[in-house]
Amino acid sequence: MCGIVGYIGEQQAYPILIKGLHRLEYRGYDSAGVSMIGSNGNLTVYKAKGKVNALEAICADKDVSGTIGIAHTRWATHGEPNEVNAHPHYSQSKNLALVHNGIIENYKTLRAEMENNNYTFCSDTDTEVLVQLVEYMQELHHCDLFTAVQNALKHVVGAYAIAILDRSNPDQLICARKGSPLIIGVGKDSNGRAEFYLGSDATPIIEYTDQVIYLKDEEVASMDRSGRLNITNLANVAQTPQMQTLEMNLEALEKGGYPHFMLKEIWEQPQALRTSIRGRLQVQDRDVLLSGIIDNRDKFVNARRIIICACGTSWHAALIGKYFIEEACHIPVEVEYASEFRYRNPVIYPDDVVIAVSQSGETADTLAAIQLAKQHGAFLYGVCNVIGSSIARATDSGTYIHVGPEIGVASTKAFTGQVVTLMLLGLAIAKEKKTLADDMFHMLVNELCLIPEKMQWTLENNKDIDSFAQMFTYCRNFIYLGRGYNYPVALEGALKLKEISYIHAEGYPAAEMKHGPIALVDEEMPVVVIAPKRGMYEKVVSNIQEIKSRKGKIISVVTEGDKVVRGMSDYSFVIPDTRDCFVPMLAVIPLQLLSYYVAVAKGRNVDQPRNLAKSVTVE
Ligand code: M6R
Repeated sequence: MCGIVGYIGEQQAYPILIKGLHRLEYRGYDSAGVSMIGSNGNLTVYKAKGKVNALEAICADKDVSGTIGIAHTRWATHGEPNEVNAHPHYSQSKNLALVHNGIIENYKTLRAEMENNNYTFCSDTDTEVLVQLVEYMQELHHCDLFTAVQNALKHVVGAYAIAILDRSNPDQLICARKGSPLIIGVGKDSNGRAEFYLGSDATPIIEYTDQVIYLKDEEVASMDRSGRLNITNLANVAQTPQMQTLEMNLEALEKGGYPHFMLKEIWEQPQALRTSIRGRLQVQDRDVLLSGIIDNRDKFVNARRIIICACGTSWHAALIGKYFIEEACHIPVEVEYASEFRYRNPVIYPDDVVIAVSQSGETADTLAAIQLAKQHGAFLYGVCNVIGSSIARATDSGTYIHVGPEIGVASTKAFTGQVVTLMLLGLAIAKEKKTLADDMFHMLVNELCLIPEKMQWTLENNKDIDSFAQMFTYCRNFIYLGRGYNYPVALEGALKLKEISYIHAEGYPAAEMKHGPIALVDEEMPVVVIAPKRGMYEKVVSNIQEIKSRKGKIISVVTEGDKVVRGMSDYSFVIPDTRDCFVPMLAVIPLQLLSYYVAVAKGRNVDQPRNLAKSVTVE
């Protein structure tokens, strides 16, 4: 949700900023902008509606020199996505330029106060209020920029990550954060001279340095060309920065020969899952070792209840986790939309365990949900992908899913990574609680180890989805059905299709059809049914009959060797047999591929679908 890049050092800033914006473009692509202070002392701002390429085109014949700069890629909240509302924003005197990620909730009040003080505004954004406020503070208190930023932020209600340039001080870059992520990269150029990088995440930084500092809430930092870094809180109390080493490689941020990140990430799933389970699932000893559970054994064993908070795809993974944990551990599990949970005065007990599931670890609603749970004394556990992310740091303990950077806006490998991690969690708790018989526990461990191989088989044996998907580009609606563990897969399949192809799709528990949605079925309606030869197979067969009698088109996901459902279907995708609880990790793959190829056939921008952003750091 908006991406920020910054640089100060001895190199030219513009190429670093543009490359960084391309890496962060998945966070928002409504507009992009860049600002530098040139050696002539000019503070330039260039902006463009749309993507980073449009910005580059505008900058092609401009003076973009300068060794200090900030840049921004926007996901619009306040003000339509046009050039005027694009960041960076100038202050009234044009001495300051600022980029911002987050939402200033009291911006209307602040703007009215500033207008009373003869400030005029060009844009509809909350961000312009911030930069004007900083300048106002400079004038009011006759103070330096750093103090003015501290003072201005004391008046602000809301979330922000900001970076700011001051024409009169070309040797200093200032940034601050509250609620929105910001990382400082500390490096040295090829001549050994100090330099600093800024990024909303580590992707624009990793090429230059692996030494980073995660700025904390209400911290303000200044970096200068001599390598000095000063971090304080808003009350000007010095904070000690904690340097961390990034574990990420550059290759993971490239498409590696695939036309889209999404396709690459779908195909990466077998390997990603191997990494997820490595060291945790010990097939020879038929054991599960999860340090997060071992270290907090009593919290889980004595938990009155587990509440899982998540959004979107992560919520679907959480639902699968609920089914498994309840079955394996006999602990009641509630799955909550974080955005609802945070505002509805939920009952939370101190002996509840609250698990936040989030790929980015930055989703504002999920973060707020666990902050609420913390106030009630619950034990907080994170299941995140991005290492060092806000949710990972806000929780008491956790397990990373370790599937590597996910760049495509539509979540794929993070979903299967979350599911496998929740399965490991369930197995680890069951082991401590002794709620699974030994032979069942060992059988589940053995079978889970085979899932990456079975995922590979699924990918290799569904290659014709590409040509098959072409037939569905005309469809305006889809229904997805599943039962038990496959109901969340139906939800996930429907979400994947709508978010990247813009075709309306709904997921339902298969037996719910007859309570209403079946009225939608006619010969025009494709119905995707997840029908593995397990669990409620016979019941699902009956549900398929009901749809066929209404002339719906059946697309099924079936177990290898199945003839009955295959015979009833217009099209089928095949998956290998596995235990009921593990089917979701296989069944979701053809659904991911189906949505991918339908979207490609419709000419959609698969990796950057309209109106969406990868990290939703606003409410
Ligand atoms: O980073 P998170 O897992 O917290 O993100 C939650 C949702 O925003 C995310 O899963 C979203 O639904 C994806 N675009 C789905 O593909």
